[in-house]
Amino acid sequence: MRCVVANWKMNLASEEARAFCEDLLGRCTPGAGTEVGIAPPFTLLHLVSDLVRPRGFQVFGQNGHAEAKGAFTGEISMPQLRDAGCSGVLLGHSERRQFFGETDGALAKKVKAAWQWDLLPLLCIGETLDQRDAGQTLEVLRQQLSILAETGPGPLWVAYEPVWAIGTGRRAEAAQVLEAHAFIRSELKRHRAHAERGVPSLYVATETPESFPELLTIPEVAGGLVGGASLDPRKFAELVRQAG
Ligand code: PGA
Repeated sequence: MRCVVANWKMNLASEEARAFCEDLLGRCTPGAGTEVGIAPPFTLLHLVSDLVRPRGFQVFGQNGHAEAKGAFTGEISMPQLRDAGCSGVLLGHSERRQFFGETDGALAKKVKAAWQWDLLPLLCIGETLDQRDAGQTLEVLRQQLSILAETGPGPLWVAYEPVWAIGTGRRAEAAQVLEAHAFIRSELKRHRAHAERGVPSLYVATETPESFPELLTIPEVAGGLVGGASLDPRKFAELVRQAG
C-alpha cells in the first residue's frame, strides 16, 4: 500500500481551502492501493471533509487530546475530530514535540484514545540534527517507538521525519532513509505492532515531484507526509500520481 498525506500545518483559510480541494479533485482521485489524506487546520476540517471524502480521500486532524472532553482550553478531542469528518490524526509531529512540549508519555495516551474513537494514528518520529551528529538516531527512534510497549498493537502509520530536513531544503540521503525505515520496521516487529495489519512507514521532509520518485524506490518507504508542497494542488496531485 502507498500513502500520501498533505500536512497543511497552520495555513489556508476557507476560500483558499475550497479552491484547493476543487482544483485537486479536478486533477486526481486516490487509485486502488493508494491512500491519500489531507490534514487541514481544525477550522477547515468540516469543509475539507465534505468536499474530499466522497471522492475517497481521508481527512486527518493535526493533533488530538487524550481525553474525550473536559476543561482543556484550546484543545480538541478525538471524538470531535471524528465528528468533523476525520478518519485519522497526526500525532507527535516534530513541531508539536519542539514547540508544544509533546512527550512520549502523552503520545502513548493519545494513540490509545485515537484507537478508542476509531481514528488511525499517524505517529511521527525522528531525530534532530544534534542527535544525528551525536550518533543517536536509532536510539531516538527506538525510544519514540517504545510507547508501543504501552499501547499494544493496533492500526498505525508511522512517519519518519529527520527533523533537520524539515522545511530546510536539506535532504536525507537514500542510505540514511533506508537505515531509519529498516530500523523502524524491526522495532515494529519487536513490539508486534504489525499484528493487526501491515504498518506503512512514510517519509517526511520536503518531498517534491522532483525528489519523490527516488524516495519511493527505497525499500520500506510507503509514501510521504508532505508539508510545503502540499499547499499547491498541482504539486500535490503530481505526488499522488507518482505514488499510484
Ligand atoms: P515539509 O514538511 O514537506 O515542508 O518539509 C513536512 C512536514 O513537516 O510534515
